[in-house]
Amino acid sequence: MESCIQKRNCADCGHEFVAYDILWDARPVIQQQRCEQCVGAIERAKHAAEKTERIKKQKLAFHAACPPLYRDTEPARLHPKFRESVQHWQYGPRGLGLVGIAGIGKTRAAYWLLKRMVALDQSVLATNATTFAKLCIDQFSDDKESKWAAVRTLEAIRRIDLWLLDDLGKQRMTERGEVELHAILEHRTAYKRPIIWTSNSTSEVLRAKFSEERTEPIMRRLTDFTDIISV
Ligand SMILES: Nc1ncnc2c1ncn2[C@@H]1O[C@H](COP(=O)(O)OP(=O)(O)O)[C@@H](O)[C@H]1O
Ligand SMILES: [Mg+2]
Ligand SMILES: [Zn+2]
Repeated sequence: MESCIQKRNCADCGHEFVAYDILWDARPVIQQQRCEQCVGAIERAKHAAEKTERIKKQKLAFHAACPPLYRDTEPARLHPKFRESVQHWQYGPRGLGLVGIAGIGKTRAAYWLLKRMVALDQSVLATNATTFAKLCIDQFSDDKESKWAAVRTLEAIRRIDLWLLDDLGKQRMTERGEVELHAILEHRTAYKRPIIWTSNSTSEVLRAKFSEERTEPIMRRLTDFTDIISV
């Protein structure tokens, strides 16, 4: 292998430039066809296209997880305590619990966090507690389609990088809901995958939503593995 220097006209801009060709057995195997400027321009265009594609994908991922109502939150309008905790949260095994009265902006703050995580290429999924309760019933449905849809979603809830459980304790948990939630918390914490949850209820009220035998294990996981921001 040897190299040779040759003057050539750039295939793109036509200007003459000094090309470094690679020869093998005196025959050129790599011939430089473009000047440095044009090679640079191609690289930059490629990077810009990749970035555009990445942003497009992230937007689609966020829209898939977030209902239209919560997509365009103005951070300045969020409660400062929620805004700051969500803004400073770093991806890691410790999640966040946002607690406060209805209308204070818990769901908005949580989706705003999801948006930021999507931009960091984390996969996200959001489930409303009512939907979660339905998934827990549907996974045992006789209807094959709804059964498998629920099983797949519950699988995704275990695996996703960041899971949002919105409105926990909105209604009393069913037995199936409790068993499933406990299993999910076990699984996610074991794999160091964080959870973000929101609730209108204080921890005492939340405790009362679970059956006596599962209150402790569920509440312990929530308090051990999430920082609770109460407004
Ligand atoms: N674009 C917006 N950006 C930030 N806050 C908004 C926006 N639009 C409405 N809000 C406020 O969001 C609040 C509701 O937020 P939400 O997250 O649904 O509350 P929660 O989940 O705590 O019940 C309302 O009080 C409303 O004033
Ligand atoms: Mg809400
Ligand atoms: Zn050129």
